[in-house]
Amino acid sequence: MTPEEFRAAAHELVDWLVDRRISIEERPVRPPVDPGDVKHALPSTPPVGGDDPAALLADLEAVVAPGITEVQHPMHFGWFPSNATLSSILGDFASSGLASLGISWESSPSLTEVEEVVTEWLRQLTGLSDRWSGVIQDTASTSCLVAALAARERATDHAQAADGVLGFGKRLHVYTTAEAHSSVRKAALLAGYAADDIRSIEVDPVSRDMNVDALRTAIEADVAAGGVPAFVVASLGSTGVTAFDPLPAIVETVRPHGAWVHADAAMAGSALLVPEYRHLFDGIEDCDSISWNPHKWMGTILDTSLLYLRDPEHLIRVMSTNPSYLQSTAGGEATQYRDWGIPLGRRFRALKLWYQLRIDGPDAIADRLRRDLDNAQWFAAQIEAKPEWEVIAPVRLQTVCVRHVPAALAGDTEAISAHNLEWVRRINVSGSAFLSPSQLDDGWMARVSIGVESTERHHLERLLDLMDEHAGAV
Ligand SMILES: Cc1ncc(COP(=O)(O)O)c(C=O)c1O
Repeated sequence: MTPEEFRAAAHELVDWLVDRRISIEERPVRPPVDPGDVKHALPSTPPVGGDDPAALLADLEAVVAPGITEVQHPMHFGWFPSNATLSSILGDFASSGLASLGISWESSPSLTEVEEVVTEWLRQLTGLSDRWSGVIQDTASTSCLVAALAARERATDHAQAADGVLGFGKRLHVYTTAEAHSSVRKAALLAGYAADDIRSIEVDPVSRDMNVDALRTAIEADVAAGGVPAFVVASLGSTGVTAFDPLPAIVETVRPHGAWVHADAAMAGSALLVPEYRHLFDGIEDCDSISWNPHKWMGTILDTSLLYLRDPEHLIRVMSTNPSYLQSTAGGEATQYRDWGIPLGRRFRALKLWYQLRIDGPDAIADRLRRDLDNAQWFAAQIEAKPEWEVIAPVRLQTVCVRHVPAALAGDTEAISAHNLEWVRRINVSGSAFLSPSQLDDGWMARVSIGVESTERHHLERLLDLMDEHAGAV
């Protein structure tokens, strides 16, 4: 492809993308496709020769796009928001177009230094003190794995440089709750902690926040048995019910034992941009690492996850590689982000944040989040006022956990659970809205996760009607 061919095709692609964005409400949220439909509509053998970009655009329209669940749709209330603001998409285009290579400062000084600047802007915007240094990772899962590795090496006094974890000779313990995201357990296992050494700490039966007395008891028992508390993951805004583990008490309990405290605020971290909600994050300054995803509610297109560290030097020691072919004259003066995480080659992700923060502006972003927070409170009040509907967890941020309990099923937990799974399934299959069901105390409920950039109050009014219609029809 020549540069001029690229120019023409890129203009057409942008026009097509804009048209899709504008018409998003005309399409179902969840596409009516079955497993294999998309794959079988595409040739099973590689192309022979070159195709015209127009033919690809036609296939995007006819085959690929109809197989996409429209998470930018204002009636999407599933999982967590995965907003992709147009400003951040522009930054993503710029990143792709500049085709920069991040393997060292020298391979793209701007890639490194814009990342330093935007992580610093976001530190200030989220009210963190200047003791923190940030890096962009692909996802919160990776950030948690990086933190788990850093924690392991701190607990073992850098066993990787000696006999490794196996040679360390003592059990290394991890503490989190059953509410923690599945990526936490995965990170711990990948980092070499034994499944038997991962403690699932009891939670408060209503809020689902970690019970710190239970944490203390578990830590003391492990220490008494000769183990080492190594890694504690506090969920700040858990995926199921937006639980917030009580950080000040956790940190106080853990500190004497030296374990690394990681705050997983993957979704909720965006709320740090709204000062009146920062009290939910009290104690965060005393953690060792914090991760949150601008690629969720804040709206920077995937993959943009932030990891902030109090002691980046420790992480650099854990991750550092300095092969001769990457050495440069910049030496120790420059930040080498390859030592702040797992991959060597990195994209120019910082441009996504740079574009979004500069074009949309932090105040407008915070105001949008406030709109969603208000909408969640309003929605919960509507549910509470309806007969046979319940809000079943405190509404901390933008997610409302609901359950429909028809009088005819009262007391029959199993039937209520099946009923809730069914009305959610019916809404999702209809394509008119999308919700993700989730389990709480062995029963199914629906999570109404509010926060898509284009979701306004009238969309929530429509959702309430849909819920009545579909739950009534089961
Ligand atoms: C609380 C929490 N932690 C971690 C994750 C994983 O995020 P990622 O997809 O960026 O790995 C999620 C995803 O929704 C989450 O809700």
